[in-house]
Amino acid sequence: MAAFFFCLSKPSRVSNPERPFTRFRRKPVPLVVLSKLQPHSQPITQYQTHTQTHNQKLIITGPCRLSGHVPISGSKNAALPILAATLCCSGTSKISNVPDLSDTRTMVSILGEMGAEIEVYGNEILINTDGVRSVEPDSDEIGKFRGGFFMIGPLLARFGEAVMALPGGCDIGARPVDVYIQGLRALGAVVELRDGKVQAYAADGRGLVGGSFQLHYPSVGATETLTMAACLADGVTVLSNVAKEPEVICLAKFLNDCGACIEGAGSDKLVIKGKSWLHGSRYTIAPDRIEAGTFMLAAAITRSCISMSPVIPSHMSCLLDKLKAAGCKIRQWTHDTLEISAISADVGENLKGFNIKTGPFPGFPTDLQPQTTVLLTTCNGLSTVEESVFEKRMSHVNELQKLGAKIQVCGSTALVSGNDKGSALSGSCAVARDLRGGMSLVLAGLAAKGTTEIDGLANIDRGYENLDMKLRFLGADLKRLAPHLAFPV
Ligand code: EPZ
Repeated sequence: MAAFFFCLSKPSRVSNPERPFTRFRRKPVPLVVLSKLQPHSQPITQYQTHTQTHNQKLIITGPCRLSGHVPISGSKNAALPILAATLCCSGTSKISNVPDLSDTRTMVSILGEMGAEIEVYGNEILINTDGVRSVEPDSDEIGKFRGGFFMIGPLLARFGEAVMALPGGCDIGARPVDVYIQGLRALGAVVELRDGKVQAYAADGRGLVGGSFQLHYPSVGATETLTMAACLADGVTVLSNVAKEPEVICLAKFLNDCGACIEGAGSDKLVIKGKSWLHGSRYTIAPDRIEAGTFMLAAAITRSCISMSPVIPSHMSCLLDKLKAAGCKIRQWTHDTLEISAISADVGENLKGFNIKTGPFPGFPTDLQPQTTVLLTTCNGLSTVEESVFEKRMSHVNELQKLGAKIQVCGSTALVSGNDKGSALSGSCAVARDLRGGMSLVLAGLAAKGTTEIDGLANIDRGYENLDMKLRFLGADLKRLAPHLAFPV
């Protein structure tokens, strides 16, 4: 079968010819040859963008009772750094279980524009970055999400230079990049902010050198970016106070499969022996713990019973403990299948409220905070929700109040008044202002009496693959309307 490359050949900036990056970290023979991989169908040669979802509305008629089994997609936050990490590798990588989301599409499209050869077969992506000839990813695209900025690490390490626009992403706080910059400087890079862009190059054109660096906060993205950079640095790098999130472990596994030498992933210290080159590899993205957690919360909020797979229960201990404490029944059917029940036969009259404080892994995930807040509105008593990771992650509260939620925000803490008889929410119009906050509105809509109309779906589509279909299969009554088309999509 003919292979079609999704190769967009419009590099926005070609590396400075006086500092040719071909000197850096190149290996001519790819380990995996494209023709030896056997794609199962014709590749997609061009991604349809999700921009049209901007005008769509989700209409949910509640309250809904859910039942059945939901498949969990690959993790967005594991896929993004791994796609960026292919920039470290000579030869082809085959990444499976990549969720089809606007953020992963944007990442793939940026890599294609920079000169990577990419074939997409559903959730499987073949990617070869040997043809990359630009060290400046498209600024508009980088400005759309956070994950694009991760490329600064591999670009610097492999090509000796990177020019990056400042990243975008959900509006949930200041989200600076100081840790990234300090860390790259500790590896010998010169990093400056010029014309609103981060311009970085390896000093004296020698490439990065190993060094020691302590992160002032265990930033997930900075840990991942510095790990990628250190893999191709000359010598040993020791990173301390790093993030312990499962997504960091996934990235380290992928890079080690590519020939890197990273020890300590999952602890607060990483020791990385730099290699002169890495090869491509095959890797399957782990299931999305945040998507799985969201469906568990959906079951609890709607007092339903659903099962899901694949999940990695150890990635979700904090949420599972809270759900059990509230009175939900969690059953593990196989090593990667969980069932959650909040039906009255299992939980009695009502669920009990609880308090959460978000924090870096293994703390309570900030990405489940808004959805958990909805559950607490349906539980007994007063609960507190303290957000300690992002300073502005409470914008969903105003929207939830439109559905009748009784929540008061005081700084970064929300006081949630529950209800003795489960959900007292009622349908209304609300706007998804960020990804997880937007998803909390969907969950509230499932539990609310009447019709809930949610705008701003592009924010939700960044993080939940096939959301409408999965919810409909579980029995939810929802449809997506494109106003200009006047029929469901
Ligand atoms: C990752 O963002 C995730 N995104 C986020 O997922 C997630 O909420 C977050 O980690 C925390 O778990 C991706 O992986 C693409 P951080 P990241 O750097 O890496 C401060 C979702 O909904 N900080 O760990 O950007 C920062 O301001 C999302 O899927 C600095 O001070 O998060 C924040 O307060 C959104 N300086 C805290 O660290 C820095 O240089 C945590 O941010 C970097 C971060």
